[in-house]
Amino acid sequence: MCKGSASLALKIAFTVALSLAGSALAAGQTADQAWLKYTQLKNPPNVPMNVRSLGRGTVEQSAVVELRRGLLSLSGKPGFDGGPNFILLGTVEEMRSRNGQSSVPTLEPDEFLIASGKPDLVRELDIIGGSERGVLYGVFALLRNLAQGADTSKLNVRERPAMAIRWVDEWDNADGSIERGYAGRSIFFDGGRVREDLAPVAEYARLMASVGINGCNVNNVNNAAPLLTSEMIGGLARVADMMRPWGVRLALSVDIASPQKIGGLATYDPADPAVKAWWAAKVNEIYALIPDFAGFTVKADSEGQPGPASFGRTPADAANTLAVALEPHGGVVLYRAFVYNHHADWRDPKADRARAAYDIFHPLDGKFASNVIVQTKEGPIDFQAREPVSPLFGGLTQTSQAMKVQITQKYTRQQRHLVYLAPMWKQVLDFDMRTNGSATPVREIVAGTAFHRTTGGMVGVAGIGQDAWLGSPLALANLYAFGRLAWDPTLSAKQIADEWTRQTISTDPAVVKTVSKMLMQSWPTYESYTGPLGMQTLTDITGSHYGPNIESSENNGWGQWHRADHEGVGMDRSVATGTGFAGQYPPEVAKLYESVATTPDELLLFFHHVPYTHKLHSGKSVIQHIYDSHYDGAAQASQLVGEWDALKGRIDARLYEDMRARLEYQAGHAIVWRDAIVQYFLKLSGIPDERGRAGNYPGRLEAENARLTGYKVIDVNPWEDASGGKAVTCGESKCIAEWTYSGAAGRFDVAVEYFDLPGGAAKFVFAVNGPAANANASWAADAVLPSRQPHGDNSTRHIARGVALKPGDVIRIEGTPDGLDVAALDYIEVQPAR
Ligand code: GCU
Repeated sequence: MCKGSASLALKIAFTVALSLAGSALAAGQTADQAWLKYTQLKNPPNVPMNVRSLGRGTVEQSAVVELRRGLLSLSGKPGFDGGPNFILLGTVEEMRSRNGQSSVPTLEPDEFLIASGKPDLVRELDIIGGSERGVLYGVFALLRNLAQGADTSKLNVRERPAMAIRWVDEWDNADGSIERGYAGRSIFFDGGRVREDLAPVAEYARLMASVGINGCNVNNVNNAAPLLTSEMIGGLARVADMMRPWGVRLALSVDIASPQKIGGLATYDPADPAVKAWWAAKVNEIYALIPDFAGFTVKADSEGQPGPASFGRTPADAANTLAVALEPHGGVVLYRAFVYNHHADWRDPKADRARAAYDIFHPLDGKFASNVIVQTKEGPIDFQAREPVSPLFGGLTQTSQAMKVQITQKYTRQQRHLVYLAPMWKQVLDFDMRTNGSATPVREIVAGTAFHRTTGGMVGVAGIGQDAWLGSPLALANLYAFGRLAWDPTLSAKQIADEWTRQTISTDPAVVKTVSKMLMQSWPTYESYTGPLGMQTLTDITGSHYGPNIESSENNGWGQWHRADHEGVGMDRSVATGTGFAGQYPPEVAKLYESVATTPDELLLFFHHVPYTHKLHSGKSVIQHIYDSHYDGAAQASQLVGEWDALKGRIDARLYEDMRARLEYQAGHAIVWRDAIVQYFLKLSGIPDERGRAGNYPGRLEAENARLTGYKVIDVNPWEDASGGKAVTCGESKCIAEWTYSGAAGRFDVAVEYFDLPGGAAKFVFAVNGPAANANASWAADAVLPSRQPHGDNSTRHIARGVALKPGDVIRIEGTPDGLDVAALDYIEVQPAR
């Protein structure tokens, strides 16, 4: 070992010790806010409590520490009791030098074997890894089984990951903000540099390792140049040090123009010898400090990012320049296929963003260096609630591939709505691309086995932040599921939901059943009240990506078009009459999507423009489906609250209250979505709802029709985001809206739809027959929701329950603005009490 590497090894050993100690002590953000709780079991685990290891390597020592911690916690014992039985950890090599060659099978590096040894006097359980990382994965597998109360007599397990690349991407900026992050600020960066306190990074690495994630790309693809300065690389080395004990390698997003932006070169042309030399030197600099650096992720020629196209070069030219620099160190390039023109001509019926990845990358198949992996989003657009599988997976047979999914819920309502994404990912992984006319499931393509590639994998955009990792507790099931599926894509979404629930919430079968059911129904529910039939997002795509804003997709170059007009809706992507996108799939799949008759209903409007009166396979017309699905979806969202209620007293009280409030909010926001989409399509199509619901809201009393004191009526933009397109806002110190009740006498739940605006916390008081003295309810509009203007981003429901009303009663809402929050109101709705 040369002097430099000896001191590096010392440094690593030191920081490992620190990081292990740090993770044990970290009070703030810990892995047990997620699934690594190791809650004490009723029956202590039936395994030896003593843990020994054959090796002293840092990853193996993490495995020892984790196993001891887990066993103590699961058994509830204060300490180990000695005794003859033990669990022995070691790599294949270590075990062989102890037991002899023949008794220990050969394992791949990340593979592990858990085997019961000597059955007689001393009970020994061996956890053998193909490498230290394999040992660690074996330990986590054992703990996962134990934590679920598994029968430990059947503990002989041998597993290896299906995919080599199992990475998460963080889109963190050096200033500590996170692009598309919904859980607070970065755990990695602050104020332009790496944070001093990296204890949460070690905890995060533990979490990642527990589900087999082996790489973490820490920075935003859209703002990557500052990350390659020498000062920053020094800081990043500390991040790598925190993750290394858990077998997680650091990766970085790089800006292809870095040689010019931070290197001072006149060009960043990937074919230029000075540019190549710059990358080689930069890569050497990184590896000198981070010897296990995993590689680069590249977003180029996309959404304003610079790229090789500026020099007439291809993505392969750019990727290979980086690949050559990384290759001697064992690093890889994840080159993103998310390359498209966001100034497309929306008037051109042949223009189609969905085509871009295949059009650009398919001709380059076979031209990428062997350490380049083309990384493709699971669908051709951008993480919508439902998209078809990207055809590029079938279009690159001589290139290694990775599938990118989004754990952070940008288009699935930013962690404020419960959407368990594993069922969606499973549909993609299980999709049979029928390449060359035979079974080619996407999971085998991305794993590399289908086309005999040496590597491949899955990458999940995680959006981890300081707010309990992902903000909402149940959203963590998505991070867990991502890791489990990258490890074994044949697991079912339900099985993963069960596993996660047992480890995170409770092993009580009734709880597991309910939570797992809620998780499993959450994606279909969500899709129903947002954009069914493959219509895509229907959200505000040029702004917050949060509330409904149907026309924001149209008449701009971003290409997320749904082409809704008075006659019909959907984008014609057929070969015969449309953009030809359907023809990018292998023939059998292309044929399926080419015709309206064979396209599954759930993707109909992604592939075809049809009249509203078109009959679906279900027998319903498209317009009636739009109405029904939104009403059903909103009703299901409200049922989620009821299902969760059944868990009261059976689960942690804080979790119960926290999640209940979130689900209530979601149920209200699902109504905002329902009403926006339904009233929009009712107006556009002019076709009434057969069931009479669209446009008729029993018990609803609009704010603009109330007796207003101080409140002013405004038009809401987009109009569909408010009932009747109007709201009232208060520009005075206090405003009042009053309605005289004229329905039957009884007890009611009164929903108040208001706009919870940022920049203050307006107060509302709800009272019957008089001012605040008779208040039935009062609350503050203090949630943190997007957008300054009142619309679907911040439209929120408060329900005053069990209110006694009789004809002639005056229902009164008093709004007190605060700062920029103008106490805006949309309507109230008097419903029979639940
Ligand atoms: C979307 C998203 C961006 C992101 C981009 C990407 O367009 O809105 O924030 O940068 O995807 O995947 O690179």
